Amino acid sequence: MKVIKPEVIERIRQETDIVELIGSYLPLKKVGRNYRGLCPFHSERSPSFYVSPERQAYHCFGCGAGGTVITFVMQFEKLDFPDAVRLLAKRLGLKVEEETVSGEKQILYETCEKAARFFEQMLKKSDVAQRYLEKRGLKETTVKRFRIGFAPGGNALRGTGSKLGLGEKALLEAGLLIKRDNGLIDYFRERIIFPIFSLSGKVIGFGGRVLDNSEPKYLNSPDSRIFRKGEILYGIFQAKGYIREAVPILVEGNFDLLSLVDKGINNCVASLGTALTQEQALLIGRYNRQVVLCYDGDEAGEKACRRSIETLLRAGVDPQIMVLPRGDDPDSYIQKFGKDAFLRQVDNVIDFVDFVIRGRRLDTVAQKRSAISELGAIVEAIADDVTRELYANLIAKKFGISQSQLLPRSEGRQSARIVNPTVSGDSILAENLVAAAVQDKHLASIAQEFSLYEMVEDEVLRGVARLVGEHWRSDSYKPALLMDIVDDERARRKIARWLFDGPEPPTAEKFREQICRLRARWLQRQIELAHAEGDEERAEILIREKDLLLREKRPVSRKG
Ligand code: UTP
Ligand code: MN
Repeated sequence: MKVIKPEVIERIRQETDIVELIGSYLPLKKVGRNYRGLCPFHSERSPSFYVSPERQAYHCFGCGAGGTVITFVMQFEKLDFPDAVRLLAKRLGLKVEEETVSGEKQILYETCEKAARFFEQMLKKSDVAQRYLEKRGLKETTVKRFRIGFAPGGNALRGTGSKLGLGEKALLEAGLLIKRDNGLIDYFRERIIFPIFSLSGKVIGFGGRVLDNSEPKYLNSPDSRIFRKGEILYGIFQAKGYIREAVPILVEGNFDLLSLVDKGINNCVASLGTALTQEQALLIGRYNRQVVLCYDGDEAGEKACRRSIETLLRAGVDPQIMVLPRGDDPDSYIQKFGKDAFLRQVDNVIDFVDFVIRGRRLDTVAQKRSAISELGAIVEAIADDVTRELYANLIAKKFGISQSQLLPRSEGRQSARIVNPTVSGDSILAENLVAAAVQDKHLASIAQEFSLYEMVEDEVLRGVARLVGEHWRSDSYKPALLMDIVDDERARRKIARWLFDGPEPPTAEKFREQICRLRARWLQRQIELAHAEGDEERAEILIREKDLLLREKRPVSRKG
């Protein structure tokens, strides 16, 4: 694989003036040490988008967007990392040198690609699987386009892996094999296989459906270094050429998506079976500010829809809801009634206000009151200023109240929109420590000394703490570097936010003291856990570490 040399990326980071760059896309005004403007990633009337020349970073307090010169160009111009780098290099008149590498990720991509080809071959050989797809009404062209395959039973992949040049280690890491007592076995057995594609069309994971009524009906590849279920949508690669023009239709199931596409409705994506995540909502928002939700016509579908509405609004995407008859899902609906009927339903969408009050009695004051507070809570979540105002207006009119009664706490609104789970004291401390380590190389070295990442519970934060551990020795260690290399969008936004919003990093002495305290409490919990599990040996080792920590304010290596 060709990749751009790290030196080139470092020069671009150093030589691109972030204020000048972003200023060439939108007007910025100086306020104190920062610059401020209207966020280009969501629409707003009062500016909450900040750029810091010192920190080479930007952050929007409204929608949470944040990053570096490179991520800005990626988001604004909708480019991938290498193309964003090339564009910035061109601006600076730099030549982009590329080198060939074969990293761990590359091996994973190759493994998934080869496995996808294997499953496609196996489908051609299986009458049962082909008949199943026919029965589900999929045309050959759809099967090919989505590279649908079949995983036979009997550990077929493990058996042929070596012939295909697929090592067991790579297959294991890609989640295609799993460990069982009696060795490694295939993860997908006797299932129709749906490769899941990255935005650029690389196979990064798989879904698999049984052919009969056995359980579980669907399986997805476990997350890997190249696949995070919560960050990708099924079908987005095939849909991305359509969903800027046409409003995307979001469905829940793989077959829902395939059936719609099969009938020529190309602007569809599916959420991979889990509740829609914030990252998936943001991903949709990169293409379109609107979306049509088309979920199953049952109670579960309705509940999922309610949750997705808020997630989307928080990401600045305005959802319209298409309500299907009881008992139908998009797949069964279009199979029964055809494309035109389905498209008529798309034209009959309702907004979230009508969705929430649909079928509800609103005769008494109490009934109205409860609907208003429910709607008010949703309106609070709307990231986009104009959209929020419009909905607030609409709801106020509908119930004959004033807008200020619907949104009473206008000052508190900002924080209500940012997802802020309640956190215990230690997780706040842990976050502050990670934030400080990100900004200061010396603190990063102390964090590593005390294995900060071990003590961080939040998955995103732990990822950042690991990254700090892996990179603090680098000469160019700084937040901008971390933001460019981290592949978790949530982590990048967090880092950007700390730069603008976080507390000042403490002195090294203070930092050491805080991390010692955190570690002592963490050790205490681990000791209790070890006791509870009857692992006295481990408890003993932990107790010694804690004593040493309290006496000498330094960690001990727990090896041996
Ligand atoms: P559904 O149970 O609604 O199935 O799950 P479906 O899409 O109608 O599937 P068909 O028509 O019977 O084939 C919706 C989606 O939830 C995920 C899958 O992505 C599925 O498409 N799912 C479902 C799982 O991940 N695991 C399961 O066990 C079931
Ligand atoms: Mn279905």
